[in-house]
Amino acid sequence: MTDRGVNVEVLDDAEALARRAADLIEGVVREKPTLSLLVATGNTPLATYTELTRRNLDASAVTAVQLDEYLGVGEDDPRSLWGWMRRAFVEPLGVRKVIRLDATAPDPVEACRRFELEVAALGGIDLALLGLGPNGHLGFNEPPCLPDAGTRPVTLTPESLASNAAYWDGLAVPTGALTAGMDLILGARQTLLLVSGAHKRGILARTLQESPTPEVPASWLRGTNTTVLADRAAWGGL
Ligand code: GLP
Repeated sequence: MTDRGVNVEVLDDAEALARRAADLIEGVVREKPTLSLLVATGNTPLATYTELTRRNLDASAVTAVQLDEYLGVGEDDPRSLWGWMRRAFVEPLGVRKVIRLDATAPDPVEACRRFELEVAALGGIDLALLGLGPNGHLGFNEPPCLPDAGTRPVTLTPESLASNAAYWDGLAVPTGALTAGMDLILGARQTLLLVSGAHKRGILARTLQESPTPEVPASWLRGTNTTVLADRAAWGGL
């Protein structure tokens, strides 16, 4: 099924989605073991990471690039998105090289510039593995967001603060973040967008059906080399 360049696959449930995502990622890593991979945290990709770990995929030459981090949060903080990425993806898969967003740097803008230079030195992103924010954000590219928005500090929207609160069991969600830029995401040679659950149905419909708009940052994926893997609950009647 295609939607103006975006390829959409609908899977029966979250488990089937994870298996299919793992198949696709495994294929890309086998083809290019030195892949640069932009890695989302959040709940959606976790089953995919578990599935990949089960397969004994050799990801030792992959470079994992961090997608987002809360501003001011260091790796010892339980809310560290780097910590989440390390536990869920980097360590289980034996990834040795990472490019991180330093959200405790004295100058966050400079930290973003360093991150951009490191990614550029790698030759950009080969595969972006993304979840869909409930407000259409990718990483923390909050609406409204233009396609040329770079890696930068951002203020989180009330919607993101609410959705992220579910991750941290009563801990306050930081109000700011660093996010990999929309430009870097849209420049990826290939993107996998994972969308699971009925609560994503409305925003998935807007992502795929509305004309690309700053109000739904994920809608800028239209026209890029993107595969959307959605489970039936998220797909609904689309
Ligand atoms: C979060 C993160 C994103 C994530 C998205 C979806 O706020 N900033 O990187 O992909 O929202 O999260 P989930 O998969 O938990 O629905």
